[in-house]
Amino acid sequence: MSGSHTDLRQAFEQAGQGHVFRFWDQLDESQQSNLLSEAAEIDLEEINRLSDTLVMGGQEESFDSDGLEPAPYRAHPSNGGDAALWQRAREVGEEALRGGKVAAFVVAGGQGTRLGYNAPKGTFPVTPVSQKSLFQVFAEKIRAAEIRYETQIPWLIMTSNANYEATVEAFEQADYFGLKKENVRFFRQGRLPAVDGKGKILLEDKDSIAMSPDGHGGSLRALVRSGAIAEMKKRGVSTISYFQVDNPLVHCIDPTFVGFHLMEGSAEMSSKMIPKAYSTEKVGHFCTQNGQTKVIEYSDMPESLQEAKDAEGKLRFIAGSIAIHVISVDFVEKMGGDNSDLNLPFHLAHKKINHVDEAGKSVSPQKPNGYKFEMFVFDALPFASDPVIIETRREDEFSPVKNAEGLDSPKTCSEDQLRQFTRWTLAAGLDLATDVTGLPAIRFEVSPLFADSEAAFVEKWNSLEVKPEITDGTVLS
Ligand code: UTP
Repeated sequence: MSGSHTDLRQAFEQAGQGHVFRFWDQLDESQQSNLLSEAAEIDLEEINRLSDTLVMGGQEESFDSDGLEPAPYRAHPSNGGDAALWQRAREVGEEALRGGKVAAFVVAGGQGTRLGYNAPKGTFPVTPVSQKSLFQVFAEKIRAAEIRYETQIPWLIMTSNANYEATVEAFEQADYFGLKKENVRFFRQGRLPAVDGKGKILLEDKDSIAMSPDGHGGSLRALVRSGAIAEMKKRGVSTISYFQVDNPLVHCIDPTFVGFHLMEGSAEMSSKMIPKAYSTEKVGHFCTQNGQTKVIEYSDMPESLQEAKDAEGKLRFIAGSIAIHVISVDFVEKMGGDNSDLNLPFHLAHKKINHVDEAGKSVSPQKPNGYKFEMFVFDALPFASDPVIIETRREDEFSPVKNAEGLDSPKTCSEDQLRQFTRWTLAAGLDLATDVTGLPAIRFEVSPLFADSEAAFVEKWNSLEVKPEITDGTVLS
């Protein structure tokens, strides 16, 4: 036994987690080395503190309504917002883009359990005709912005430990979807062991710990630890456009949003909201409390508040969070640095976790049997100075693929894309038959490289000398 191995085992014994090495003598050399490297990743002090406080102590932050108010937001021009202000914001954002100050950032480390797709979610085919993957759609949107603003846009891609190789491979295979390889930067997020109801670390196998990604909030430390933030600073990037991997409608690069964030001067993190469709819609709520901005999850918000109306009869807490943020590089550094004492809270997820029992038998539980620990990126908002929240339109920007069927599924997302492409063609004066929901009778597709917004579509369409016919199966690219 090497010295470091003995030290590690001792540390686990002392922390009450010695059972992790229970099967040590049955393992061959490479299995032992696997177990050791996983064990070395674990911050025992952190995991025991989380187990003591959250699993055994039940100390998840409880809901407090004292001083809770709906967060103010900048209304979209189509909803009474000041069009001149939005135009000014756009110009400020465009200048930052032209100056190479903006990077795109997708968090793609989730496990995608609900979709049940056996590959990185970003490789999921999502467009209605050509079945482009989510990654390809984002890549083309980023490329379209590079062309429009004659600039280079670095794209940061956070994967989990588990899907890193498959993600990089997908980009290699696709020749980076037309982007410059040196502008695409992959890095892994951190992971934590899952524990049972007594706070004991679970083994996934005799030689392997049940580890899971540390949540999208882990992105702040991963950005710093991976060196991505240092690289961004070197390139002169000051602002990061954050989005999730599951929403092909997102404007990966939105000059107006970037502009609103920058115009505030001291804003460290800003967010987009959509008005909730109905009171119990499962999105977080933007609120303020004690001078801080925060997101309160639908599951934590009492129904009476979710349903509360204002004097005009509109939902009082109407601002729903859709996980689109602009974050300043300096703020990421402040929050994600190893010496930072500004820690995001961890949340507990009670899950079914495959593991080996004390006898070394594999167990696939039917009921949740353990706990995972996750951080949420929106928990950074209370630490941020002067967050700006702007409204976006659901139909323009939000249709995630979360579930295999039903709500937020590949089907609903494909239909929402079709409705969007149809609205653009109608705005350009074309005639397309639709049903009452705006869904066209044909399937067609607009590549982001043809147009990435209604205005861009109209301009492009009008500039075409020969206008193609749009029929079933047309892809405008
Ligand atoms: P979700 O909350 O939808 O989780 O992630 P998920 O893991 O993808 O899916 P389910 O719940 O297992 O079905 C929202 C976004 O945050 C990213 C996901 O990749 C997605 O873009 N995410 C989530 C991470 O990057 N890391 C995590 O640890 C969790």
